[in-house]
Amino acid sequence: MEEYTKPHFPNAKVEPIFPTGIMTFKYENSLEMNQMSYFLKSQPLNPGVDGYGKISEDTYILDNPELSSLKEFITKAFLDYAKIVARIKTDGIALLQSWISVKLKGQMHTPHQHSNSMLSGVFYFDDYDINSPPLSFHKEINAMNKSSLLPNLEENYNESDFAQHERYFFPQKNTFVVFPSYLTHGVPPNPSERPRISLAVNCISSNTFGSKSNLAEIDYDRLKK
Ligand SMILES: [Fe+2]
Repeated sequence: MEEYTKPHFPNAKVEPIFPTGIMTFKYENSLEMNQMSYFLKSQPLNPGVDGYGKISEDTYILDNPELSSLKEFITKAFLDYAKIVARIKTDGIALLQSWISVKLKGQMHTPHQHSNSMLSGVFYFDDYDINSPPLSFHKEINAMNKSSLLPNLEENYNESDFAQHERYFFPQKNTFVVFPSYLTHGVPPNPSERPRISLAVNCISSNTFGSKSNLAEIDYDRLKK
């Protein structure tokens, strides 16, 4: 077969029909963050499942008054994502769980999603080293669209957004990364002696949401009655 050296149709357009957005936010006041970071790191931890790391005993950690500035920052960041990226009809965010996650050397987290949550985020507030593992995002291949072909990929497949099945976000100090809770994500094994510490948060719209006509509405005011 003739070697493929250039596109046959260089003007043909590629349409990104279902891209997924993750959004990153920087906490700018590092002095203030240092104090809150000390508080976060002094939290008691539960042993967790073997190999999967430890999580804080407190799973609503942002309710502590010592973290009120961080809670405000995270709530506003979620709302920005909801309005700018997801275009969700809401004017408020209610935080659900917030917890510290610690991965010691060799520990990891298999790919998963967060149930009963609209948006999730991870705030990195520690120092990380060159070997600290990333947050890995995974493309879901469901039965309906799973190809029966498993093609070999070109060496340069990284140059095409559409050829990826896994994308990495590497921890950056004082940075909050937001993604939809349905998006599959995980953490590869930590090869570093340095523990990998982060704060995970879930949230939901604080307004009535879902479609009434589709019988999918959740109306908080009605539930409270
Ligand atoms: Fe997670």
